[in-house]
Amino acid sequence: RQLPPHVFVLFGATGDLAHRKLFPAMYQLHRKGLVPDGFSVVGTARTKYTNEGFRDEVFQSMQSFVKGGIPNDDVWRSFAERIHYVPGNVDKVEDFRNLHDYISQVEEERDHGGNRMFYLAMAPRFFGETALFLKESGLADTKGWRRLIIEKPFGHNHESAAALNEQLRSAFEEEEIYRIDHYLGKEMVQNIEVIRFANSMFEPLWDNRSIASVQITSSETVGVEDRASYYEKAGVLRDMIQNHMLQMVMMTAMEPPSRLRTEAIRDEKVKVLRSLRRYDIEEVKKNVVRGQYRAGEINGQAVPGYLEEKGVAPGSKTETFMAARLFIDNFRWAGVPFYIRTGKRMPVKSTEIVVQFRNMPKHLFFNQDGNLGPNLLVIRINPVEGMYMQLNVKRPGTDNVVVPIAMEFSQPSDKSPEAYERLLHDAMIGDSTFFTRWDEVSLAWKFVDPIAEAFADSSTPLHEYASGEWGPQAATDLVQGEPGIWWPVY
Ligand code: BG6
Repeated sequence: RQLPPHVFVLFGATGDLAHRKLFPAMYQLHRKGLVPDGFSVVGTARTKYTNEGFRDEVFQSMQSFVKGGIPNDDVWRSFAERIHYVPGNVDKVEDFRNLHDYISQVEEERDHGGNRMFYLAMAPRFFGETALFLKESGLADTKGWRRLIIEKPFGHNHESAAALNEQLRSAFEEEEIYRIDHYLGKEMVQNIEVIRFANSMFEPLWDNRSIASVQITSSETVGVEDRASYYEKAGVLRDMIQNHMLQMVMMTAMEPPSRLRTEAIRDEKVKVLRSLRRYDIEEVKKNVVRGQYRAGEINGQAVPGYLEEKGVAPGSKTETFMAARLFIDNFRWAGVPFYIRTGKRMPVKSTEIVVQFRNMPKHLFFNQDGNLGPNLLVIRINPVEGMYMQLNVKRPGTDNVVVPIAMEFSQPSDKSPEAYERLLHDAMIGDSTFFTRWDEVSLAWKFVDPIAEAFADSSTPLHEYASGEWGPQAATDLVQGEPGIWWPVY
């Protein structure tokens, strides 16, 4: 869908996120002809660049971050013309005024409809103040619409998130704030709703009468990379669980919305978090396992342990893996465990949701070992996108030997637009369905805070796992009842 005219003001324009994700996403939108004449990007950060110098920098980085690189052709040149750069310091209100003057000039040159999008892709400690300076400098005062897109982390716990939210709200309305969770931009995360609510065969079975358990895994092979200064404070709990993992739980567990409207969908997601059982310290010990990677091997390559990584404090207790058993205490899900696990330095990069259906009340048929495997619905989010159903059928040529078969639909994820392209597009058209609302963030922190406290008082053991393993043994022990294992991830 064609995008409205606007100026896209990018804070942190020289940073990793801008180069890795945002410019490539905007370039794709431009290449597909979706952006109108009145669309300009004004980047800002501390480093001094001219417009030309900055455009060259973006062009260079695109060679690494757009698959196959990009040619120096008319498409690039017309995109480059849209890019501007104004050096500035986000803690100086004068620099905001200067930026304002520049943007007003850009707005005179092309018709941007007075619309302004502000994207905060800089260090999170500047988020609150930046919002206030946007207001104070007059930048947020415009005759068209204004919106603020904000990256994670949204606070460090409930208290700091609430304080940040208050700062943002003193300059922007809730409807103008787009909190990014890039998992919500993934094709198959968005598809969960469609699979559930467009197929009459799933919805009648989607509850505790028919579903035995749900497992959600998001495994990564990378380690902490060069992000120790951030990760040491976050750990996997704040980095992945508070946002991405809980989002997948919500999408899997939510009730059908009354209609396909942003607030109706978000209301149903929030209700899941309201029903999510919160743990105290004792319950954390029983239901949550944390771990930290040691040296090991990934794809035949030796890799160092977390404590040997650059920037990690000696004896650091930061968790790089977490598994948990969650319960959603409502009518639909009472008694059904939702197992989640995510970690760095695991054997493969993969994100999958496995829904395991209950066994037959009585088995008439068996496989070769005298058992009968359950039916599974697997939603594959990354690196392959698709789904499969595991069913039992008779092995041809035998009397009654049952074998599991998979009915599968999959495609490589690089066929779909990148999450950031989708989310930028949505924010630009003003659709906040796949962004997180404040009450969602708030409830997610209320669930996470007691776990963080339990971790901090070190009564919850920090298990070790070798790089290249599926986390510590304790994570496997967490999965009780049928089948007593984590389903393999493909
Ligand atoms: C980010 C985390 O939000 O998500 C990273 O900060 C993590 O630590 C990444 O690697 C995983 O995202 P994806 O899309 O690669 O699964």
